[in-house]
Amino acid sequence: MTSQIASARAHTNIALIKYWGKKDQQLMLPMNGSLSLTLDHFYTDTTVEFNSIYTEDTFYLDQKKIETTKITPFLDLVRQMNPQAGFARIYSSNHVPNAAGLASSASAFAALALAASTAAGLNLTRRELSRLARRGSGSATRSIYGGFVEWQPGTSDLDSYAIPIDEKVDWDIEMLAVIIDRQQKKISSRTGMQRVVTTSPYYPAWITSTNQDLSAAIQAVKEHNLQLLGQLAESNALRMHALNLSARPPFSYFEPASLVAMEIIEKLRSEGICCYYTLDAGPNVKVICSKAESPQIIRALSTAFTPEQIVEAFPGPGVKLIEC
Ligand code: ADP
Ligand code: DP6
Ligand code: CO
Repeated sequence: MTSQIASARAHTNIALIKYWGKKDQQLMLPMNGSLSLTLDHFYTDTTVEFNSIYTEDTFYLDQKKIETTKITPFLDLVRQMNPQAGFARIYSSNHVPNAAGLASSASAFAALALAASTAAGLNLTRRELSRLARRGSGSATRSIYGGFVEWQPGTSDLDSYAIPIDEKVDWDIEMLAVIIDRQQKKISSRTGMQRVVTTSPYYPAWITSTNQDLSAAIQAVKEHNLQLLGQLAESNALRMHALNLSARPPFSYFEPASLVAMEIIEKLRSEGICCYYTLDAGPNVKVICSKAESPQIIRALSTAFTPEQIVEAFPGPGVKLIEC
């Protein structure tokens, strides 16, 4: 192999039923299954070039040279599949704030999985891509597919992958992202979830209740029941954040403005509008609602946030190859 190049685009996904803990940190096997919605608005483009003249991996993120601490072990998995693939140069651009709880690691490793495996001459199935992406970041397992996606936890590398639940999403659902802070979080998802697994006395209850939430939420997606899905998602997210408060030392991703957004949504709901929120490992609030009602919700959020802070997102597609 001399030089081989490929580019891919993957969209982020927001979990409605969360992954928050690993049972195997090396294989990245989650403690429980999860359910997400892939979004059209936020994505990562990544180009990988394997070239026999390179003497090390180099990685540029948004034109800045970055350490390859997470990238090289990931590329090693690809090199195991094709030992002829040498070192690589990677260029990536995020159309999503980095490390702010908007799932940049999900779109990042899903795009890298497709670009790197293609550049290495491998023709992986979507299931194989999902397993590979998982090794970079758990949430990336789900970004291989569009629409609603379930990550089946599995018991080994072979059976821990995502499956599409509703890829086309031909019903009225939208997600409004309220961007409160684009800064990198202080505690990465990886560190936060591990601290919770090892120190929260509530962790066993999280697993039991999340498994119940997951079955109910998948049923709600199948029935296009926005209200039930929203109720389950909001409650599951709050339980995840309660785990963080119950860890030692405790931590929280909320900022004062997160609570402002959450209160606006609760008030709208008391006025009869069907809207629910979820938050990941960061202060940004995502609102689950219908396209029909989003103008009223945007209007209410506009009393506290600028138009630039309120971003409309719709169900998005799975990972695909793009022109370099
Ligand atoms: P997020 O909430 O954005 O997913 P995480 O803490 O899970 O935050 O992951 C952020 C990390 O993901 C970054 O520190 C970086 O290591 C990695 N990452 C983000 N974007 C990219 C990218 N485009 N390519 C490779 N790795 C990326
Ligand atoms: C709160 O996938 O970012 O967004 O697997 O350690 O890379 P690593 O963590 P990551 O965690 C995501 C956590 C979450 C919930 C979710 O996406 O399911
Ligand atoms: Co992440």
